[in-house]
Amino acid sequence: MCGIVGYVGKGEAQGFLLSGLKRLEYRGYDSAGIVTIAEDGTATLIRAKGKIANLEEKLAKSRRSDKIGIGHTRWATHGEPSEENAHPHKAGDIYLVHNGIIENYKELKKTLTEHKFESETDSEVLAALVNSFYKDGKYPLVNAVVQALKLVQGTYGIAVVSSKNPEEIVVARSGSPLVIGIGNDETLIASDASALVGHTKRAIYLNDGEVARLTKNSIEVKTLNSEPVSAKVEEIETNLAAIQKGGYEHFLLKEIVEQPNSLKETLRGRVNVENGTVHLGGPGLTEAELRKIKHLIIVGCGTAYHAGLLAGYYIEQFTPEITIETVIASEYRYRSAYIPKDAVALIVSQSGETADTLACLREIKKQGIKTIGIVNAIGSTIAREVDGGTYVHVGPEISVASTKAFTSQAIAMVMFGLTIAQAKGVKPGVLRPYVEEIAKLPEEIGKVLSGVQPEVEEIAKKYADYDHAIYLGRDTAYPTAMEGALKLKEISYVDANAYAFGELKHGPLALVDDRFFELALLPKGALYDKAISNVQEVLARGGHVIAVTNVADFDMPVEGVVKITTDIEMFAPVLMNLVSQLFAYYMTIAKGYNVDQPRNLAKSVTVE
Ligand code: G6P
Repeated sequence: MCGIVGYVGKGEAQGFLLSGLKRLEYRGYDSAGIVTIAEDGTATLIRAKGKIANLEEKLAKSRRSDKIGIGHTRWATHGEPSEENAHPHKAGDIYLVHNGIIENYKELKKTLTEHKFESETDSEVLAALVNSFYKDGKYPLVNAVVQALKLVQGTYGIAVVSSKNPEEIVVARSGSPLVIGIGNDETLIASDASALVGHTKRAIYLNDGEVARLTKNSIEVKTLNSEPVSAKVEEIETNLAAIQKGGYEHFLLKEIVEQPNSLKETLRGRVNVENGTVHLGGPGLTEAELRKIKHLIIVGCGTAYHAGLLAGYYIEQFTPEITIETVIASEYRYRSAYIPKDAVALIVSQSGETADTLACLREIKKQGIKTIGIVNAIGSTIAREVDGGTYVHVGPEISVASTKAFTSQAIAMVMFGLTIAQAKGVKPGVLRPYVEEIAKLPEEIGKVLSGVQPEVEEIAKKYADYDHAIYLGRDTAYPTAMEGALKLKEISYVDANAYAFGELKHGPLALVDDRFFELALLPKGALYDKAISNVQEVLARGGHVIAVTNVADFDMPVEGVVKITTDIEMFAPVLMNLVSQLFAYYMTIAKGYNVDQPRNLAKSVTVE
């Protein structure tokens, strides 16, 4: 979603702003803009609809060596994607960029009669509001920002500069992340630390309700009530290689292929194969607290939700006396669900910033329930607000469609389940097979990926003209099918939906015709024969079935088969999901769409 960058220092602002915005491209956006201000107060505001390349083209004609500026990538909420609606917004001498949503912008707008509005955005209202307190520079900018924010309802991460004082940037946050990078005679800002990588390793993550005045060599943080804050300087751990394509044509393929290593990072130091146990330090629950858990609520959106569903299927296999409910955050936050006191909530989020998931976390905490984060982005809001947590450590995930995070989220949650089971005294013999398979998974993922790639590519090409798909699975292969269908939908724009095999006769079977293909996940196991009967029913109605299976002698007359050779059994669906990921990737290539930045979507959904 929207991205913010800013620079004040000894260097040229335009360079950092442009490269920073490019780093944030992956979050999804539909227009971009930059303002820089020269020492004499001359502002250069350049905005463009569409890709950053369009902005870059315009900038090439207006190169400036100004030492201060702010920039933005916009993902439209109020008003269509257009140059007028793009940020920065101007009001008097003020320029402002904003992430988030100002909910009471209509009421505020009515009071701002002196400003001539040029856009349809809520953000311009905020710019005008700040300007109304700034009074042509008669008041310090930071005070004007504070006064304005006190009237605002909603979420924001903002950066504000003024042509009256081209030496300072004022930033503030409530619900939308902002990181301040500390350089040598330069201060940088970004809504996502990845934009700062390579420039500085030292950063301050602003908290909700904080505002900061930045110059090239000073950072003053305070609360909206003017109490000074002694901000903690943290280290940015990400390195440059982790956010570059590293020879791959697309981030998505890089991230799929990275999974043997990214899962290894998730498991590092947490799995003891010899003892058949796992150990997670982060959740911070005592043995007694773990023993008391009777309910698990798993909260997430999109892929994180699917990872939660999958983990839930496993955890209930080996953890006695426990009920598990995996919920979609945007629904759960408004439900009147009763949460028993002996529950623990797992808050699952790759970015750690998803607005609905964050809202659930806050609601659940209010009820006195322990919250455990299953998060990737270190230092993110969810990671900081949960009571304890397990980072999945997969490194930056840049492609909008989530792949490596899914695998690690699911396994990290299964490990949390194993931790509960260990504390509850489940026999080691029951848990050991799970631990052993988990330990083997990174290597098996590597084998599957290198084994199946050519045939998946070939099959995907063959089906590239299809616009409809049904993904099928049951038991642990059902949430896996849901995730596979989501991948295809997200990047190939194929109308792909997933069903549990057992549901076919209750509706989806009516869809089977030549416009659809069916991707059937068929892992070995107790329900294999039942799933095979369902495949027969689809074939009998002229279905176009592609089977993914680890059954070596599978010989049904389907149109395509991807056989997985592995001695992994319980977690075979996790391996099958790699096939779905690759299938979506190659189908998107064949259809000629943008793999890493699918239309209309954003990587990190920071507004409701
Ligand atoms: C967006 C992304 C998905 C992701 C979902 C949840 O929709 O495009 O890939 O699964 O948000 O994101 P989170 O960062 O909370 O895991």
